[in-house]
Amino acid sequence: MKLITNKIALNGTIEVPGDKSISHRSIMFGALAKGKTTIRHFLLAEDCLSTIKAFRSLGVAIEVSEHEVTIDGASFSHLKAPKESLDVGNSGTTIRLMMGILAGQPFKVELFGDDSLAKRPMNRVMLPLRAMGAKLDGKNNSEFAPITVLGTTHLKPIEYTMPVASAQVKSALIFAALQASGETVIYEKEKTRDHTEQMIRQFGGKITTEGLTIKVEGGQTFIGQNVTVPGDISSAAFFLVAASIVPHCEIKLINVGLNPTRTGILDVLKEMGGDFTIHQGESDVSEPVGDIIIKTAKLKATTISGEMIPRLIDELPIIALLATQAEGTTIIKDAAELKVKETNRIDAVATELTKMGAVITPTEDGLIIHGKTALKAAKVTSYGDHRIGMMLQIAALLVQEGEVELEQADAVNVSYPAFFDDLKSLS
Ligand code: S3P
Repeated sequence: MKLITNKIALNGTIEVPGDKSISHRSIMFGALAKGKTTIRHFLLAEDCLSTIKAFRSLGVAIEVSEHEVTIDGASFSHLKAPKESLDVGNSGTTIRLMMGILAGQPFKVELFGDDSLAKRPMNRVMLPLRAMGAKLDGKNNSEFAPITVLGTTHLKPIEYTMPVASAQVKSALIFAALQASGETVIYEKEKTRDHTEQMIRQFGGKITTEGLTIKVEGGQTFIGQNVTVPGDISSAAFFLVAASIVPHCEIKLINVGLNPTRTGILDVLKEMGGDFTIHQGESDVSEPVGDIIIKTAKLKATTISGEMIPRLIDELPIIALLATQAEGTTIIKDAAELKVKETNRIDAVATELTKMGAVITPTEDGLIIHGKTALKAAKVTSYGDHRIGMMLQIAALLVQEGEVELEQADAVNVSYPAFFDDLKSLS
């Protein structure tokens, strides 16, 4: 696909689609709660549709219309053995969180996905779930999908120190813990997104968090809710960066989720000299939201590391592009997790942006980016990774001569099907 290039300005207002992490969880809690749950501003994109499909296969009635998703929920004990293996497509969140849910179910299920998902590590979820008493196995006794889960209604609570900072692992354990007899204690390595914890409370359950320690009791019941999903800051990130690096821009992004476990990109933008203001919103959304007005800015390099990383993990590809337009050397470190995302994002970012003229060195756990560089036309690929595809389109806006051709552009459908249309609407 030929990308939009040579932009002299972007102006206008956008409401980005619903948060991907919150959309997945709203289906899960809606299915596991008694009564009706309605979800507004749900992300109707491939990943979240995989979660809906999986729960339908488990016997949960879910209606999808353009404006609302409705779930007729029951409880953990009402899920039914699916007739076939569950295909979760590209969705790491679906497979990992489902493993935690299925760990407490008295039947066997196989979970599989696309080629990218089959390369992603699953031991991080399988090992603690096995310690709780469930049986999980990867293809040919490996840790990779297809994964079979043989759950048990006698899950044991555990005390578990997480070796990786991962909200998917944490959430899988919480879902299993909710079905165990007694209290499970989880120690996080670093604070990660807390949407699962927030939603347990919204659906009438209890979970305690103190610093990096999480305690959750098994045997809780949840009550169906009306959920309004905030806009996804990870999708807004592409426009935050576009507005910052393309000359003469002013963009307003409305109803963006501002959960502090997700706003690392705003801290980095501020540190780099970004020009934006936030108007915190009053709304019926269960997590904080606000409107962000952002303009073109003169940027300087920064270092991003440590506990900041989980707060912006999905934004690192687009932050790398931002850094190519900042004066000085930006260092991203402590981000080895990037290697096990939808693709190896350290290699993908370095390879594709280098083709476009950026000066980037990949490292074992991050990237070193020398700015500021002009970007030039090239033939690039998303590697089937939605966030790499969208990042490359934003990079292409700066190309002044020639064409930028993106292979596997349809990867954006995983999280943002209207991405190219929304971008076109800003002129
Ligand atoms: C997610 C957690 C993160 C993130 C992913 C969504 C979630 O993954 O990268 O896009 O919804 O819990 P990890 O838990 O592997 O860091």
